[in-house]
Amino acid sequence: MRLIEAKKEYYRTLAKKDGYRSRSAYKLAQLDNSYHIFKSKSTVVDIGSSPGGWLQVAKQKVGENAMVIGIDLKHIYPLQGVITLQGSITDSEVIDEVLKLVGGKVDIVLSDLSPNMSGIWDLDHARQISLTRAALSASVRLLKRDGISVFKVFEGELLERLKKEMRCHFQRVYSSKPKASRQRSSEQYLVCLDFTLT
Ligand SMILES: C[S@@+](CC[C@H](N)C(=O)[O-])C[C@H]1O[C@@H](n2cnc3c(N)ncnc32)[C@H](O)[C@@H]1O
Repeated sequence: MRLIEAKKEYYRTLAKKDGYRSRSAYKLAQLDNSYHIFKSKSTVVDIGSSPGGWLQVAKQKVGENAMVIGIDLKHIYPLQGVITLQGSITDSEVIDEVLKLVGGKVDIVLSDLSPNMSGIWDLDHARQISLTRAALSASVRLLKRDGISVFKVFEGELLERLKKEMRCHFQRVYSSKPKASRQRSSEQYLVCLDFTLT
């Protein structure tokens, strides 16, 4: 078995054993180990959250009394203590609904958005960056001062400009590739700290 396949298989087996809905759960857990994203009682919104691995990790980290909301185009099977909304992040009414549910602003916005993959590199990159830009706009509407966002991004020529836009809203923006992410995949994660209200 090639190294990449072996690594995928390792996290797939681990996820089954630990009861996580996706291998991606370990990426978020590893990012949290490095950047201390979650605090007990933080309010979390997770965009592009089906099947729900990140939601499971977020809920474990913030505790049963904290609000965790998942948004996805696809249905998300119910998870104890998690509110799920089916809709697109590009729809401003979805964000209105989150603000209404929370009754204020949130501490953390996560985004693991992926478009339907065409296999054409430039197209997939452009679509993913466009989705992430919508997640950034959502973060700007949703976050409290000093809030945190984590965005998955696909590497490519449009990424630098998006990072610049992120730096207009967050005092610190770090690029990270957690161990659970395949080294040769085009994804990386931007951990954005200290949201500034404008
Ligand atoms: C890689 S998966 C997320 C996996 C998830 N983080 C987990 O741990 O289970 C990416 C998700 O982005 C969702 N997505 C794509 N476009 C979207 C949009 N416009 N609005 C909301 N979700 C979207 C897809 O439906 C898909 O479920």
